[in-house]
Amino acid sequence: MDTKNSSINKKSFEENIEFVVPGMELAHTVYSKDLSILANAGTIINTELIKKLRKWDITKVDIVAEVADNPFTNPNIEKFLNTYNQSIDVIQKTFDSIRQTQDIPVEAFSETADDIVNNITDAENINIIDKLYDLPVCDDYTIRHCVNVSAISALIAKWLKYSTESITAVALAGLLHDVGKSQLPPEILNKPYKLSPADYKLYQTHTKLGYELARKKENISQSILFGIFHHHERTDRSGYPMHLGADDIHPYAKIIAVADLFDESLTINCDFPGATSPYASLDNIRDRLYCFDPKISLIFRDHMMNFLSGHRVMLSNKQEGRVVFINRDKPSKSIVQLDNGTVLNLPTLKDVNIHYVIK
Ligand SMILES: [Fe+2]
Ligand SMILES: [Fe+2]
Repeated sequence: MDTKNSSINKKSFEENIEFVVPGMELAHTVYSKDLSILANAGTIINTELIKKLRKWDITKVDIVAEVADNPFTNPNIEKFLNTYNQSIDVIQKTFDSIRQTQDIPVEAFSETADDIVNNITDAENINIIDKLYDLPVCDDYTIRHCVNVSAISALIAKWLKYSTESITAVALAGLLHDVGKSQLPPEILNKPYKLSPADYKLYQTHTKLGYELARKKENISQSILFGIFHHHERTDRSGYPMHLGADDIHPYAKIIAVADLFDESLTINCDFPGATSPYASLDNIRDRLYCFDPKISLIFRDHMMNFLSGHRVMLSNKQEGRVVFINRDKPSKSIVQLDNGTVLNLPTLKDVNIHYVIK
């Protein structure tokens, strides 16, 4: 952890007397059964005091713990979360206004994309992805999804070593990629996997609708327009609306496609058991590598490995543990250490996988 950005907080915890050792600090005054003071709060415990407390049948004491604050209080993460929440507000309002006017307020989108890029450049990137999914995922699906896709797409562009101008353009394309959904009835937006074939066809028009809305604006570049239009195209021509092949899909759309699928599995499918962990989401991308640009999906997977290691997880068989080694070919089947120390090699266990991350 970056100690420059961490602060130390004093908290207390209850400790059994058998685990109390010299040097610990008492958080609260300890009284005997007849309410006489045995030791004051703040006392640094020594061997004599431990003997005394035992003699008085004290079984538990409150100890001061110096706990490093969690990354939420890291100023960079906090700054990112503020920007993130402001972006959600701005994009919510702009979507509402586009619904009424069919006019994209480009300035508001551009400023939001700039803010997102400035923050991901400053902050610890991997923690940011982690933070995106600490937040509730089932409300405001489309808006949250657009902001997440913008941030993740910008990160991928950064990992691909794009120029700052191009990273900002990718972030803007990510923010706008589903803007066409503002023109569709809200009831078909939230759960596309539950739609009838006719409604799903209507849902698919959002790429063209978004492109049409955006191209009315003079200050949106061709690259951003294609980023919007092509984001559901797939390199094996299985995508829509034009079934383009690898050579014809714009690079911005190839980036957004990976960010979109990763985020969609975590947000839109939030009521799908087993589809809600980033491990399952990466499995999903891995299983469909032939649909995506290999360089983009591999660079994304490699960076995400850092993010996935060390998480506390719930397994599908209801056991809890910590991910100690990532299986790059199938992240949901990684190696997990249970609380009792047992190490489970999930690839050898049929039907057991990582179900979700415990927050
Ligand atoms: Fe989309
Ligand atoms: Fe999307």
